[in-house]
Amino acid sequence: MVKKSTPLISQFILGIETSCDDTSLAIFDVKKNKITHQITKSQFTSHAKYGGIVPEIASREHLTCLPELLDSLLNSCSLKKSDIALIAVTKQPGLIGSLLIGVSYAKALAWSLDIPIIGVDHLKAHIFSIFLDQAAIKTPFLSLLVSGGHTHLYLVKSITQINLLGKTLDDACGEAFDKAAQMLGLVYPGGPSIEALALMAPHGATLPYNSLPIPMKNNKSLNFSYSGLKTALRNYLISQKMYFPGQDLLSISDFTTFKDKMTIEKSALIAKSFQYSAFAQLEMILTRAIKRHSIKTIAISGGVSINKSWQQNMSSLCAKHDLTFLKPLDQYTRDNGAMIAFLGYQMYQQNQQSKFELTDLNLEPKASSELSF
Ligand code: KG4
Ligand code: ZN
Repeated sequence: MVKKSTPLISQFILGIETSCDDTSLAIFDVKKNKITHQITKSQFTSHAKYGGIVPEIASREHLTCLPELLDSLLNSCSLKKSDIALIAVTKQPGLIGSLLIGVSYAKALAWSLDIPIIGVDHLKAHIFSIFLDQAAIKTPFLSLLVSGGHTHLYLVKSITQINLLGKTLDDACGEAFDKAAQMLGLVYPGGPSIEALALMAPHGATLPYNSLPIPMKNNKSLNFSYSGLKTALRNYLISQKMYFPGQDLLSISDFTTFKDKMTIEKSALIAKSFQYSAFAQLEMILTRAIKRHSIKTIAISGGVSINKSWQQNMSSLCAKHDLTFLKPLDQYTRDNGAMIAFLGYQMYQQNQQSKFELTDLNLEPKASSELSF
């Protein structure tokens, strides 16, 4: 195996992400200081009808598509396997079966090419995904990582110094979107459908006051909670005779094609109110953190950060407090290989400088991350 002091054989870093239901590979070009190519295969259609991810299906799909995705990625940038200098792979947290497939594949590839491999924390990669289109990483900043598995608030001082300030006490925000969509009769993932449906709500209309209250309003902590909002939504749907557990789930286009006008309008108003309460909580708790920490930059990341309504709210909130607002490019909000390749290279550089051991073929995946606790 290549020693840690050996210089990289080229400028091409391969990133591999398989922690959940997306298989994503990317090339980070060190000389150009940017991601040049990314390829992602989503498993939406395989999991859609179940209303969530089925771990066994996810692992099997990663296994079957990894080799062909790597060939397509390398073809698209006219590279050969032997041009790759370093492999960065997601090692934690995630579905253990999915992580095992990615890590085993990366190890076999690194061994066959005799190149180094580095294990990357998926949460850290999301946090630093805001710098994929920037010239350099700048710290400190407050970071809200909001995805299907996490709603975590961090104070980020450097790549190695990340303090958890607060996190969800129950469901993650993205998970709440997924469950809300399911209750409304929409397929997984729910976030994009709720966002699209909310835009169809009649202008100026609102639900009766407090139908979907903002959770954690009367609490002073920096933690989040989404189970109450989910229960409030279920109770409201029951009160409106719109709650049908076990119903067939539809895509947003089928929903708007096949449902009657009144159901679409009522559902849209509910989606808008749900989205409002879900984001109001994030903004309320972030405002508390801004008051407690004198930080000039706020960042959001993770799958939910693609939501345009939330981005607009965040942009206004930061303008009001005279803070810089950073978000990832859309293609780097969901799980992606680019953020893994990028952070893997930054870590590799730090390891080289400080002569830490590079993670070698002993790399083992883990379902949890130190950044979650
Ligand atoms: O980061 P990600 O791709 O995977 C995890 O690590 O969880 O995030 C996926 C989550 C899902 O819960 C999905 O519903 C949510 O991100 N999401 C959204 C939107 N697009 C995806 N939530 C709200 N609005 C969206 N437009
Ligand atoms: Zn993620």
